[in-house]
Amino acid sequence: MKINGTPTRTIWPAKDGWAVEIIDQTRLPHELVNVRLESLADAAHAIKAMLVRGAPLIGATAAYGMALAARANSSDLALTVAYNILHATRPTAINLKWALDQMITALGKVPEDQRMAAAYARAAEICDEDVAINSAIGDNGATLIQAAWESARRARGADRVNVLTHCNAGWLATVDWGTAIAPIYKAHDAGIPVHVWVDETRPRNQGASLTARELNWHGVPHTVIADNTGGHLMQHGMVDLCIVGTDRVTSNGDVCNKIGTYLKALAAKDNAVPFYVALPSPTIDWSVADGIKEIPIEERDAAEQTHMTGKAADGSIVSVQVTPDGSPAGNWGFDVTPARLVSGLITERGICAASPEGLRGLFPERNG
Ligand code: MRU
Repeated sequence: MKINGTPTRTIWPAKDGWAVEIIDQTRLPHELVNVRLESLADAAHAIKAMLVRGAPLIGATAAYGMALAARANSSDLALTVAYNILHATRPTAINLKWALDQMITALGKVPEDQRMAAAYARAAEICDEDVAINSAIGDNGATLIQAAWESARRARGADRVNVLTHCNAGWLATVDWGTAIAPIYKAHDAGIPVHVWVDETRPRNQGASLTARELNWHGVPHTVIADNTGGHLMQHGMVDLCIVGTDRVTSNGDVCNKIGTYLKALAAKDNAVPFYVALPSPTIDWSVADGIKEIPIEERDAAEQTHMTGKAADGSIVSVQVTPDGSPAGNWGFDVTPARLVSGLITERGICAASPEGLRGLFPERNG
């Protein structure tokens, strides 16, 4: 992503070569503020308090969290403690565990005095791999947008192709490119007239504040809509394609993603709108099959539901209460869309059916 013409990742090593910098996503869309992470505790806080969020970026930050931990103490015990602290920050996105396992495996191969260097090297590789994977997802998914555009033009003389997305699975959810938004960037850059319906994504509004922010930076036409609007738009032929990201996909092809994704998939099915999910392979949890029964769903502070944060007329950032005093609120962060509602999975290796056979066809090393 370029911000004011400068290519920018969402996480990068600081100039001093040991600290790590991130964008504080809790301040977006109104303020672009970088934050320096200097310790394991800083990294754990950044993930837990959602300064960084989105499954791949959570994994990348956890990897650097292990590097910061190794800088302080590279003993087996210290690294195990660091692993457990980082793993406990958020329960649903499997990329967190994937990245921590990658780090522990890499560090287990070298003597203690070489672990710090090995940790920084592997964390940097994880970031570079994420960028390459997402770029490939973009190329693969852009073919779907191209096909939807040609079909919309033929069928109704459309002057644009409409893609609906939920939450933020863009550049800000990854190291660069995004997952669900990568195909949109690639299609837009290739000259396809793509327009994006952006679900606001209550309660934390990742669509309204983050997806809109980055589409705006990249110059992609988009419209922010209330979460409950998608079904109406689909009934009226105003959505050609849905593409969402995911925090965990099971070996059966069930998809766990931001709360509300399931309802969009139901509406898409009822209206014969293709519903695709974009994912990097570290988001596949090969150890679970039934997403509804087996994936832990994060429950967050009810204050995210009872209050909303935004910019006041005087430019200050304020939080306002939207519920009556005394009304309890529930705040489940994710839901599971069963594989039967998913038209296909867009991965770095290609597009496959949301099924055990589809996934194992693309990832044959998982057979047997
Ligand atoms: O709670 P968040 O903001 O970390 O959740 C992120 C999502 O659910 C994204 O929609 C999802 O696609 C995963 S990140 C590519």
